[in-house]
Amino acid sequence: MSVLTNKRILLGVTGSIAAYKAADLASKLTQAGAHVDVILTDSAQKFVTPLTFQSVTGCRAYTDADLWGDEAHVLHIGLGHNADLLVIAPCTANTLAKLARGQADSLLTVTALASNCPLLLAPAMDGGMYDHAATQENLDTLNKRGAYIIEPAEGHLASGLTGKGRLAETTELIGHIRLLLGRDGWLAKRKVIVTAGGTQEPLDPVRVLTNHSSGKQGYAIAQAALDAGAQVTLITAPTALIHPVGARVMQVQTARQMLDAVLQESAGSDALIMAAAVADFRPKTSAKDKIKKEGGAPQIELEATDDILKAVSSRNDGKTRPKAVVGFAAESRDLLENASNKLKSKGLDMIAANDISASDAGFAVETNRITLLFADGREETLALMSKTEVAEIMIERIGKLLG
Ligand code: CTP
Repeated sequence: MSVLTNKRILLGVTGSIAAYKAADLASKLTQAGAHVDVILTDSAQKFVTPLTFQSVTGCRAYTDADLWGDEAHVLHIGLGHNADLLVIAPCTANTLAKLARGQADSLLTVTALASNCPLLLAPAMDGGMYDHAATQENLDTLNKRGAYIIEPAEGHLASGLTGKGRLAETTELIGHIRLLLGRDGWLAKRKVIVTAGGTQEPLDPVRVLTNHSSGKQGYAIAQAALDAGAQVTLITAPTALIHPVGARVMQVQTARQMLDAVLQESAGSDALIMAAAVADFRPKTSAKDKIKKEGGAPQIELEATDDILKAVSSRNDGKTRPKAVVGFAAESRDLLENASNKLKSKGLDMIAANDISASDAGFAVETNRITLLFADGREETLALMSKTEVAEIMIERIGKLLG
């Protein structure tokens, strides 16, 4: 169950060329389990049709014809009161101005006035319209009134101009929607640190020693913690993944940088989840210049890196250890025995034992096969499931550890 499952999202679409992108947003929200009702303004219908939205959401898409239809006397109140969130994307300068003034001349604006759920606005418009003092004053008014505003992006605009006015990307919009829906969740005000990705240990300015970690499991855990309302710091080694919206991201490269970041951030935090694949060994020295092949194959001397989890569990600098310290055990054999030993030797509260020999679990794939071991001796074997589902279960169990 994600933060979007069974949520009622009311999506207002206004007359911007970016209206076609709202169909993708409606589709992705529906796929994530949300119930999406759509209201199109008259000018939105110049770009897209109600049928487009009904087809991707399986729900009604309303227009101003409904404002004066059979349900007219209750429709706007019903839509406004039933929604968990009202999102207007794209939101034109005209609709912003109406909302700021409390004007109620269309089904969308009258519903916005009648609703009592959070309001998220994603402006999209051309050229200097966004920067215009009138638009900025309207945004300021709405912001002070509690509306959550997602700034448009800079870039190519439909007019051919370049400027700030592009509707934020769907993944970013969904990230903000999740953040708003989750903000009062059961981990609200809890500080959670998540590490992710495979560290890189430089050999010379060109080459690194690294591993196959994609970072997917760690990023999914960060997202699940955000969905539960936590304040998340994601300490990440290089990955190809998009940062989860709302996480404070610290980009690191080496095991030593990750150690420093974890020690700094975990003091005073509630939970630390070490999903990163940290290098156990690094080259003793990193060559200042590129190692050339003329010199023959180099002998590379390695040295051990610090064990980050052990350093956190046994810290004696007066700083408090997070209440829940969680690790992973990536094993190709003797899974539970090795995981249990790591749980004890690293002083953990929970460890996720991960069989990396299976082709459908571990590095780079979308699924994982995990057994959770707890410090009190409990054991919980999870079925093969997506890394997102693993993350949601782990965050739920960590929530219980925090009490
Ligand atoms: N870990 C760590 N610091 C390291 C290496 C690993 O904190 N220098 C963490 C990992 O993030 C993971 C857990 O320790 O949560 C176990 O990592 P794993 O690679 O499975 O085990 P290692 O401790 O490295 O032991 P081995 O390689 O011998 O299995």
